[in-house]
Amino acid sequence: MSRVAYVNGRYVPHREAVVHVEDRGYQFADGVYEVCEVLGGRLVDETRHTDRLERSLSELRIDMPIARSALGVVLRQVVHRNRVRDGLVYFQVTRGVARRDHVFPPSGTRPALVVTARSTNRAASEAVAAKGIKVITVPDNRWERVDIKSVGLLPNVMARQAAREEGAREAWFVDGDGFVTEGAATNAWIVTAKGELVTRPADGSILKGITRTTLIDVLGKRGMKLVERPFTVDEAKAAREAFTTAATMLVMPVVQIDDSVVGNGHPGSLTGELRAAFHTIAEIA
Ligand code: PDD
Repeated sequence: MSRVAYVNGRYVPHREAVVHVEDRGYQFADGVYEVCEVLGGRLVDETRHTDRLERSLSELRIDMPIARSALGVVLRQVVHRNRVRDGLVYFQVTRGVARRDHVFPPSGTRPALVVTARSTNRAASEAVAAKGIKVITVPDNRWERVDIKSVGLLPNVMARQAAREEGAREAWFVDGDGFVTEGAATNAWIVTAKGELVTRPADGSILKGITRTTLIDVLGKRGMKLVERPFTVDEAKAAREAFTTAATMLVMPVVQIDDSVVGNGHPGSLTGELRAAFHTIAEIA
């Protein structure tokens, strides 16, 4: 079946979906994006993803390319036209097309919107989650505005590639004081040896993950306590459980950090419980 993408107002065959060479996303990484899970053909946490898109855009002083309600229609159209039941929808907004110049383009330059969707193999993801994943740790060498979901992802790309080359699925960034910030494309969590559930506060040093926010709702509903504080790599290695969250992985157990096995080397029971509970609380529309 042929895939379809949305590019600036048109639904086009995926292989013909192109943007201009002077799109500022291409030349300056001058844009932002979102990745939203699709479950049974419906969008998971669309409201929060769209809220975050609007926030990222406003931090960079880029206008919404189309009305919020129209965006919801386009996302569903792309999901539908690609016959995605379970998968991901990707949407990206850049500052648009203009002659290369660092300063903002002339007023009237329209922000560019691209939307793609693809199916994922749920059974394969569940099989990965049943075993848990390895993460490596790498120095956090990103800019200071990681709260913005920018398409400027070079440090993340290099970190994920390093992970791949070491047989791991994710890399956790570590700040100059030895504290874990977050993953290359996920947020990091541990259950300490004492049983404390810990994740780093979203104080600007991490992206405020939507999966993270919704999982905090899950904890609230279950009356479970969360401690939002930074944790060190050493603490993570000595933890009882560890996991990492994102729209692409949900609640993914971490069973190895660098050369250290976490807990008994199997996904933790609390992690499994939270993974199972996630979709009972998330918005699915
Ligand atoms: N990444 N931290 C970073 C740096 C991320 O890139 C992401 C998401 C997250 C988790 O956010 P959320 O729970 O909203 O997915 C945390 C997306 C999935 C990606 O780049 O593919």
